[in-house]
Amino acid sequence: MNFETDILSVFDKKWALLTAGDKDSFNTMTVSWGGMGTIWGKPVATVYVRTSRYTHEFMDREGYFTVSFYPEEYKKTLGVLGSKSGRDMDKMNDSGLTAKEAAGTMTFEEAEVTLVCKKLFMQRLEPSNIIDKDVCKFYENDAPHDMYIGEIIDIIKKPVNKANFDDPHNELFVEEP
Ligand SMILES: Cc1cc2nc3c(=O)[nH]c(=O)nc-3n(C[C@H](O)[C@H](O)[C@H](O)COP(=O)(O)O)c2cc1C
Repeated sequence: MNFETDILSVFDKKWALLTAGDKDSFNTMTVSWGGMGTIWGKPVATVYVRTSRYTHEFMDREGYFTVSFYPEEYKKTLGVLGSKSGRDMDKMNDSGLTAKEAAGTMTFEEAEVTLVCKKLFMQRLEPSNIIDKDVCKFYENDAPHDMYIGEIIDIIKKPVNKANFDDPHNELFVEEP
């Protein structure tokens, strides 16, 4: 996937992990709704978290969060992290991913790209504000989403190995100055 041109479908197609907390206490969950763009003159990532998620408690409490993207081989792991709650399992140890600190918050070694975000704004997507009735079905039996907008303060790219680095067809290829 080309990160530069597929930006609109990157959440939908690749999925991501949303992680908040510090090394002593953090949680992660899979997200496929979200976006990247600009507001208030800042580069931002926006995510939508149902109030019922364990991760929601961390998103409310913490000032920073990460959104991390993974190679295709981790899709199954993301599927598990998106179906089990950190309330019911030790996600951090049982996922097989390797947690690491990033600017005081957390991400995972296996991520190909991590967006480190500073929380700027949150607001409930009040079901009473829905205009298009097609959207109502998402809230008939489930908790509302809270929207979190975070300023992207750092983008961490996993270093590529030398062989890939030299390949001009690799999307992470960087020409040396
Ligand atoms: C592909 C996929 C995408 C998901 N996207 C979202 C999302 O954008 N927002 C959300 O609130 N939940 C989403 N979920 C559901 C949560 O990841 C799931 O409920 C998770 O178990 C919550 O974990 P937690 O209770 O430890 O926070 C998604 C699940 C999957 C499998």
